[in-house]
Amino acid sequence: MADNIGNKAAHDYHLDIAPVQDGFYVKGAAHCDWGMKNRLAKIFQPKSGNTVMLAFDHGYIMGPTAGLERIDLVVPPLAPYVDVLMGTKGVIRSCVSPASPTATCVRVTYDTTVLFDEMSNGGGIACDIENAIRMNADCMAVQTFIGAPGESRSLELLARTADAGTRYGIPTLGVVAVGKQMERTEKFFQLATRVLAENGANIVKSYYCEGFERVAAACPVPIVIAGGKKLPELEALEMAYRAINEGAHGVDMGRNIFQSDSPEGMAAAIGKVVHEGYTAKQAYEVYEEIKNSK
Ligand code: 5RP
Repeated sequence: MADNIGNKAAHDYHLDIAPVQDGFYVKGAAHCDWGMKNRLAKIFQPKSGNTVMLAFDHGYIMGPTAGLERIDLVVPPLAPYVDVLMGTKGVIRSCVSPASPTATCVRVTYDTTVLFDEMSNGGGIACDIENAIRMNADCMAVQTFIGAPGESRSLELLARTADAGTRYGIPTLGVVAVGKQMERTEKFFQLATRVLAENGANIVKSYYCEGFERVAAACPVPIVIAGGKKLPELEALEMAYRAINEGAHGVDMGRNIFQSDSPEGMAAAIGKVVHEGYTAKQAYEVYEEIKNSK
């Protein structure tokens, strides 16, 4: 094990040099197989290289979350505005049409519910690789608990899912959890995102933070940022704008879309920032236009 005391501080991020790419536009995927690349190309639009994922998996630990009470009514109208629908197998099966052309990311791990004060001990597998293949999943999401009691177990689930995904060409999305006791610093997110990528995640979901450009630079696979708690629409768009400009390859957003007074307006506005380089203010106009047209 590498000595953790008295190490030199990392500082050579070469922010002026683009990531070394070799034949395929998704970061870190140049040496993957055709099927994996094909699924990644459904997730990350070839033109922008970025993705908008709609997260509606909250019920797996929170039950009927505000805005998702009638998940069957909320999700389908948003599908045309996003690249990926991220949910549990139960909700995707019951509420998303199999004829929908939007890619899917199935959350394949379960965890303890919000009834428990403590953070999870790592959870377990809720959807195995056979089930993911049967559902024709384009991606599998695994929750991880870096720096918390569930760290070791969740990393094992991540590594096993990534191995199975590599075998069948399905990318794995490693999700960085942030608990009450966990830091939300550049140092923490650098460590967590890098650990997930090193253990096989093809995509990492993490949080925007000060110094995000160094977090993104040091992660060899694309980072998509989580939305987190509901913010005023303009603030959420500003966060997305900063993240994209500092190296994120998209967002995986839930509450900031489905808890908005215009979920469709927000989904469309986020898409403009992520794919078309709109500023937050320009995108806010798109949100208002759609909101006022309903
Ligand atoms: C927690 C998760 C969530 O279940 C969800 O995807 C979060 O979405 P948002 O914070 O944007 O509502 O990934 O780690």
